[in-house]
Amino acid sequence: MKSLFLCCLLLIASNSYAEPFKNADASAGKALVDKNCISCHAKSFGGDGSSIYTREYRKVKTSKGLVAQIRNCNTMLGLKWFEDEELNVASYLNKTYYKFSE
Ligand code: HEC
Repeated sequence: MKSLFLCCLLLIASNSYAEPFKNADASAGKALVDKNCISCHAKSFGGDGSSIYTREYRKVKTSKGLVAQIRNCNTMLGLKWFEDEELNVASYLNKTYYKFSE
């Protein structure tokens, strides 16, 4: 059941965004990440937690994967972000760490 759910999310994410976060607001995304995401990553990965995004075996490999991962976190943590907020966060993380071009 859970994997069916995740599968649907991935499907939605991959269908609706050719360029997922082209028009998103990265600085709004940064504020959301600073508030909701960093402390836990920092606890597990040390420093400011950003090495989670740059480690050699990172999980996220594509911009669509990034949106899907953020959506999963949003759901798992019960943050109730709207889709545009997820995309703002994706845009910020991409600009700062992942640097996917499409
Ligand atoms: C309760 C702790 C916790 C919180 C809160 C949390 N994360 Fe994470 N996050 C993790 C852990 C642990 C991993 C690594 C999972 C793994 O390696 O399998 C991770 C991995 C990730 C990755 C993938 C990194 C990679 O390997 O490429 C992204 C992106 C991410 N988190 C984004 C977020 C965002 C955005 C938020 C805020 C909404 C958030 N996380 C909040 C614990 C957390």
